[in-house]
Amino acid sequence: IGYAIVPMIARGAMLGPDQPVILHMLDIEPAAESLNGVKMELIDAAFPLLKGVVATTDVQEACKGVNVAVMVGGFPRKEGMERKDVMSKNVSIYKAQASALEKNAAADVKVLVVANPANTNALILKEFAPSIPEKNITCLTRLDHNRALGQISEKLNVHVGDVKNVIIWGNHSSTQYPDVNHATVTTSGGEKPVRELVANDQWLNTEFITTVQQRGAAIIKARKLSSALSAASSACDHIRDWVLGTPKGSWVSMGVYSDGSYGIQPGLVYSFPVTCEKGQWSIVQGLKIDEFSRGKLDATAQELIEEKSLAHSCLN
Ligand code: LMR
Repeated sequence: IGYAIVPMIARGAMLGPDQPVILHMLDIEPAAESLNGVKMELIDAAFPLLKGVVATTDVQEACKGVNVAVMVGGFPRKEGMERKDVMSKNVSIYKAQASALEKNAAADVKVLVVANPANTNALILKEFAPSIPEKNITCLTRLDHNRALGQISEKLNVHVGDVKNVIIWGNHSSTQYPDVNHATVTTSGGEKPVRELVANDQWLNTEFITTVQQRGAAIIKARKLSSALSAASSACDHIRDWVLGTPKGSWVSMGVYSDGSYGIQPGLVYSFPVTCEKGQWSIVQGLKIDEFSRGKLDATAQELIEEKSLAHSCLN
C-alpha cells in the first residue's frame, strides 16, 4: 500500500492539486535499503508538488511534525487467515506508533488507520495517544464504500461516479453492513433510488452484501496479496474529503469514534455515513433504519466489542 500511495500523494490525489507536500515514509530496519530505493524513485519522478522526502526506520523521526498520518504499517493478512489472527501482532505495533505520534506529530494531526484490524487498531491508537483529539483518529472503510459503489455500477451498467450515498456500517471486516437503502443513481431523468433501479431486493439483501463483505478476501485469493492500489486510492479519497470537504448532497463512510449515534455504544471506532466541512467530519443523522438493517448494525457492533476486549487481552 505504501508503494502505491506515495505517488498518488505526490501527484496531489490526497491533498489537492495546489498543495505542496513533504512525505515522511517509515519502514522496518530490514527494509531500509528498499525504502531508500523508493525515495530515489520519488526524486526521479520529479513531482512538482513534492517538496521533500524523509525515508526512515526511526518511528520518532517519521512522526516529527506530521499533519496527516496514514497508518499502513502492519502484519498483512494472508490467504486463509482471519482478521483476528493478525490482531496480536498489530495492536502492539499500534500502541508503539501511538506514543510516537503523541510525542512528535502536529497537535492537530489527522490520523487514518488502514492496517487491520483497522477499527480496533484505531481504538488502541486513541488510548495510547490521549492528547490527540478523538475526532482526529479515524479508520478506513472508504475502501468498502468504494467497493459497494463499484458493485452497484457494474450491476446497473452505469458510471460509478453517478452512484452515491451507499453506507458502510461498522467494522472493516466480513461483518460490515453495506447498506443501499439511501443510495441513489443520477440518471438523465434525475436522481433515482438504487433499490428502484436494481429492482431485485433478493440480490441487494444477499449477494451484494456478501460480495462487498468478502471482497478483501477475494482480492487476497486472486492476487495472493492483499489489496494495495484500491486501498491506497481509497485512503487518498478519505483524507481528501476529510480535509477539503464532501460534495454537497452526498456523504461518505468513515470509521470514527462513536458518540452513541444510531444506538452504537460510545467507545467503539465504528463506520458511519459522514459529511465533512472545514476539516471536520459529522455523522449524518436521522436516517431511517429498518429492522433488517438494525440487526446488521448491531451484529457488527458486537464484533467490535469482542475485538476490543481481545485487543486488550493481547496487550496485557
Ligand atoms: C481489504 O479489505 O482488502 C484488506 O483489509 C485486506 C483484508 O485483510 O481483508
